[in-house]
Amino acid sequence: MKIVNSIKELKQNLALEKQENKLIGFVPTMGALHEGHLSLVKHCVKENDVCVVSIFVNPTQFNDKHDLETYPRTLEKDCALLEPTGCKYVFAPTAEEMYPEPDTRTFDFGTVSQVMEGAKRPGHFNGVAQIVSKLFYAVEPDNAYFGEKDFQQIAVIRAMVKQLNIPVKINACPIVREADGLALSSRNTRLTPELRQKAPLIARTLKESTTFAPDKNVREVIDYVVNTINKDSDMEVEYYEIVDGNTLESINDWSDADYIVGCITVYCGEVRLIDNIRYK
Ligand code: PAJ
Repeated sequence: MKIVNSIKELKQNLALEKQENKLIGFVPTMGALHEGHLSLVKHCVKENDVCVVSIFVNPTQFNDKHDLETYPRTLEKDCALLEPTGCKYVFAPTAEEMYPEPDTRTFDFGTVSQVMEGAKRPGHFNGVAQIVSKLFYAVEPDNAYFGEKDFQQIAVIRAMVKQLNIPVKINACPIVREADGLALSSRNTRLTPELRQKAPLIARTLKESTTFAPDKNVREVIDYVVNTINKDSDMEVEYYEIVDGNTLESINDWSDADYIVGCITVYCGEVRLIDNIRYK
């Protein structure tokens, strides 16, 4: 496994791989790796000749400066986790390398980037599109891997590659969960032991709610999820939306779409957790 810090060095290495017609797979991350990230890497290694993982805490996607400053940076540990996976290149650039000039691009992907996280975290998806497009230009992968944990992010990335004509296949990988159902996230480590015990309520409630559909209507299912979670005084649902999984538009009736996903954000104490579940 080779660790490279510059786009130039990365491109030089990958040019040789491409000369040999190697299929290039790519997993973008912000580091602080856990089993969720590693599952993407496993898919990537299995389905490509060469696996590239990027580790870069992207400043432009943080709308909270404190969140950016406190984001865990554990490059050495991350590389130790990646070494046995079969990952061939770790791309770990500096902010100066990725942003030699401020990125002034503003994207408009319509609904997929405006609803839910797009509404609650202004500028977040614009920053994600800025960095992921730059990373795609640097790696020029055949395949890229993203986790369904960030369901909306995948929709934004799909819209982006379409809009920018970037020839890469976007692969979505299932959410990796703890044994008690909590979706793995680097933010889970910020939970106090007491809140960590409570957090699985989110996944449990979402799962339970799938057994009510389609007998209960969409509004009733939303109310059930929100009320059940909010009953715990340490938990507060920021939003729960049941959407068409392709367009991310809210649905009113279970017959409105063939692919239906419920997306939630919950404050568990001070920690903002996201999760989602498929209904159909
Ligand atoms: P990061 O939060 O590090 O996540 C990197 C990838 O790991 C994302 O595709 C995310 O969905 C996936 N992931 C995280 N937790 C997961 C879990 N429990 N199960 C499955 N996949 C999981 O997402 C980002 O970084 C950034 O926005 C990035 C795309 C790298 C751009 O900066």
